[in-house]
Amino acid sequence: MSAPALRLEGLQKAYGDQPVVRGLDLEVRTGELVVLLGASGSGKTTLLKMINRLVQPDAGRVELAGEDVAALPDPLLRRRIGYVFQRIGLFPHLSVAENVGVTPRLLGWAPERIARRVAELLAQVDLAPELASRFPAALSGGQQQRVGVARALAAAPELVLFDEPFGALDPVTRDRLQGLLESLRERFAGVFVTHDVSEALRLGDRIAVLHEGRIVQLAPPEERVRTPAHPQVAARFAAPARQAEAFAALRGG
Ligand SMILES: Nc1ncnc2c1ncn2[C@@H]1O[C@H](COP(=O)(O)OP(=O)(O)OP(=O)(O)O)[C@@H](O)[C@H]1O
Ligand SMILES: [Mg+2]
Repeated sequence: MSAPALRLEGLQKAYGDQPVVRGLDLEVRTGELVVLLGASGSGKTTLLKMINRLVQPDAGRVELAGEDVAALPDPLLRRRIGYVFQRIGLFPHLSVAENVGVTPRLLGWAPERIARRVAELLAQVDLAPELASRFPAALSGGQQQRVGVARALAAAPELVLFDEPFGALDPVTRDRLQGLLESLRERFAGVFVTHDVSEALRLGDRIAVLHEGRIVQLAPPEERVRTPAHPQVAARFAAPARQAEAFAALRGG
């Protein structure tokens, strides 16, 4: 079998004497979305940043399709991994089109090719073409998050990291963006951080529960609902009854 799109092996990170990630292993295949659930401060963002080389691990290895990311040149890494940041993180001084085109520009694509790609992406995330010249401050929160998703997908990455991308959105917008993600996901491997259990159940092929720097449960949503590995951990996200309810609602029950 071919190498998984993403493989983490023995990843560790401490800040000072505070261990944040303590020996973490994970494999994600193309078309698969693994959802990370964990309390605030449990190391989710740190983990995503280690995958994308924004944070240097103390130990362990990150492989993209079998290649060590530590050895990849920077532009190649930016092309191969898309990142939707927590709290959006658009460049405020760049227009929507310039934000979406950041990675292609970094890769030296011709301006016409960038313009075509930007137009295609804006259509995919359901943003009107006339928004292309606006600046982020003149967009709604939901529109900004769509721009963030379009930007992450710009160079057709094989891995996309989502750090609470749909937080703080109204339920209708959130539902549309989740639907959008479902329609695109076959093309990449995804790691998706959320605090929202219904979102995890809807989007996750597997759900990883992070606790004290380790994955304490990694299972398809059905299994997580039936048998939470750590009741006290599960209780931090939602009462089991609520999970079951959310799950039933998803299945039309
Ligand atoms: N640059 C840093 N220097 C020192 N400590 C840090 C740094 N970045 C993160 N931490 C600490 O590491 C721990 C994990 O942080 P991280 O941002 O990964 O958490 P998280 O799971 O993403 O939380 P949240 O759900 O609130 O976003 C926290 O205790 C945080 O204070
Ligand atoms: Mg975080």
